[in-house]
Amino acid sequence: MREKREAREFDLENPIIKIEHLKKVFGTKEVLKDVNLIFPKGSTTVILGLSGSGKSTIIKHIVGLMKPTDGDIFVGDTNVANCSEDELRAVRKNIGYLFQDGGYVDSYWIIFGYWWAFSS
Ligand SMILES: Nc1ncnc2c1ncn2[C@@H]1O[C@H](COP(=O)(O)OP(=O)(O)OP(=O)(O)O)[C@@H](O)[C@H]1O
Ligand SMILES: [Mg+2]
Repeated sequence: MREKREAREFDLENPIIKIEHLKKVFGTKEVLKDVNLIFPKGSTTVILGLSGSGKSTIIKHIVGLMKPTDGDIFVGDTNVANCSEDELRAVRKNIGYLFQDGGYVDSYWIIFGYWWAFSS
């Protein structure tokens, strides 16, 4: 017999990630314009969009690899848009992320940065 699935209610007031009025401009190109998103705790959230629509750019903001032109990105209580490096490190300890091919250059510079910081 098929198990009956109950509808789950998510706590939208205390999301695990909350993005408010995120704007990102590269040169003259506005890639993200007033993005508002909530990732509720205990749910799976998928961001769908055309190639070049800004999905990777959003994720890079969540992990603090990019700073917004404007707006806030809360991971728990930390606003990664303007937190300290120590706070960012604490946030990253709780997040796993994979780069798609285009992220290789970013990854390279992160690894180089760590090597430079700890070897000098
Ligand atoms: N560092 C950057 N400098 C300039 N433009 C950038 C930079 N990173 C991303 N862009 C531009 O921002 C737009 C969004 O790119 P992004 O990689 O976020 O798209 P995407 O939705 O992840 O696409 P895909 O589905 O192909 O992975 C693209 O037009 C891209 O060229
Ligand atoms: Mg992408």
